[in-house]
Amino acid sequence: MSQPGLTEKPEWKALIDHQASLSGTHMRDLFEQDPGRFEHFFANAAGISLDYSKNLLTRETMPHLMALARACEIPEQIQAMFRGDNINTSEKRPALHVALRNLGDDPITVEGTDIMPEVRSTLGRMEEFVWRIRSTQWRGFTNKPFTDVVSIGIGGSFLGPKLVSAALKPYWHGRLNCHYVANIDGSHITEVLRHINPETTLFLIQSKSFRTQETLENTKVAREWFLHNGGDEALISKHFVAVTANEKEAIDFGIAEENIFPMWDWVGGRYSLWSAIGLPTALTIGMENFRSLLSGANAMDQHFREAPLEENLPVIMALLGIWYGNFWGADAHAILPYDHYLRGLPAHLQQLDMESNGKCVTRAGQPVNYDTGPIIWGGAGANGQHAYHQLLHQGTRMSPADFIIPLRTHNPVGSHHAILFANCLSQTQALMRGKSLDEARAELRDQGLDADAIETLAPHKVIPGNKPTNTILFERSTPRTVGALVALYEHKTFVQGAIWDVDSFDQWGVELGKQLGTDILDRLLKSGNGKKTDSSTDGLIDLFRRKHRD
Ligand code: F6P
Repeated sequence: MSQPGLTEKPEWKALIDHQASLSGTHMRDLFEQDPGRFEHFFANAAGISLDYSKNLLTRETMPHLMALARACEIPEQIQAMFRGDNINTSEKRPALHVALRNLGDDPITVEGTDIMPEVRSTLGRMEEFVWRIRSTQWRGFTNKPFTDVVSIGIGGSFLGPKLVSAALKPYWHGRLNCHYVANIDGSHITEVLRHINPETTLFLIQSKSFRTQETLENTKVAREWFLHNGGDEALISKHFVAVTANEKEAIDFGIAEENIFPMWDWVGGRYSLWSAIGLPTALTIGMENFRSLLSGANAMDQHFREAPLEENLPVIMALLGIWYGNFWGADAHAILPYDHYLRGLPAHLQQLDMESNGKCVTRAGQPVNYDTGPIIWGGAGANGQHAYHQLLHQGTRMSPADFIIPLRTHNPVGSHHAILFANCLSQTQALMRGKSLDEARAELRDQGLDADAIETLAPHKVIPGNKPTNTILFERSTPRTVGALVALYEHKTFVQGAIWDVDSFDQWGVELGKQLGTDILDRLLKSGNGKKTDSSTDGLIDLFRRKHRD
């Protein structure tokens, strides 16, 4: 018997009815009617707490969503991921980032081979390498200790490590600075090279495929710069290290074989910060802290694998996203870290979520008849309050938001942390409560405005409220909590993809631009006209070529 499609499931239809029954309800009233709302909609695991009471939910809503999760066999799909099934169906591969933080003795097999010995031995190699650099045993070509690490990589070979390095700045080694170069815009690498010394700089070339144009071109520039500033070919191996699953091309490119750390096909780029792709982070925070990062992620993995759906943080967050995206018409989801160190989180989650679930066919290749992954956006709180929060409060579009904040700070200056915390809470409260017309009028009356002025101004001061938010809390940005937080979002993304029945681990969409880019580059650089395509692209190519003719 064939399975009904997602929107044909009775659980989906029940959610449509349930949404209709809630559509006129205001969250203010829900809070008034249910004094136990905070305790009821509160969960925690692996050092992360989630208050999801400020959502468009009654006590009936989560059971409906859980029923959908069960109808979509989420428990079975979770086990399939941990078991190493080929859940990346279009590429016929497992997605085993959880193996990279598997701290137990359990084997994990891919095509009959236990991958854990290789994972552990790579961690061991990383440990030794990190120790040699940090202890100054491995030095630059003039025998000076390294002071700068430059990571060259893009996408998952950039965003995850960059996020984690910045998030753990309080743990950085006093001598080592860490820089990231990703963009093919030459200004990026030029600006980084301007401030560093070739004698004391270590380059990490980070590319799973070792075929990514941006990374290879930036590496060539770094290599030339090194050779023109005191280095020579024989010294390259002292300063250039690579992380890749494509050892052959890295060697052909000129990286010494012993300087290559492995990656594997069973790790997706956007899930790779836990592998040797995390080396820039490990070098700056040290291997002990890097292992703590892994252990935080592992604690979230254990929770995800074992906790009942009703208490399962990634499942709860995923279902809330489904609720708004598929039943309330939300197109977007905001990530708002109230933590300067976590300011890179929105960018990392944009890749994680949008590259994973920005899909329009099911795993079987059928077009979907429902919305899939939302637009992920956001930025550091409280800065956003003075910018885009206006749209959250009074705009016409719905964007649920995650407010993410530590309970304690690494930098207790003045009353900053209490003020930051107050800002965070006042935003979620304002988004939930809003301000009614009567409240706006009363406020203006108190300010002494006359009746006409009150009626003119009051509508502008009305804030509808009823805007959903999650508040995500943890003790402080430590390696463990950051590991758990990132893993939480990884698993949330997985659950949503599993419900939408999309392959969350491929990214064919990014390929077309790469293919077309090759032809266009050819036409920009060569004097012939090449094959014409469309008048816009042809016209723009012509403009560029006219500028660069001389
Ligand atoms: O272009 C997208 C992408 O394929 C990402 O999925 C990946 O993280 C990134 O490029 C970088 O790829 P690589 O690590 O192979 O250089």
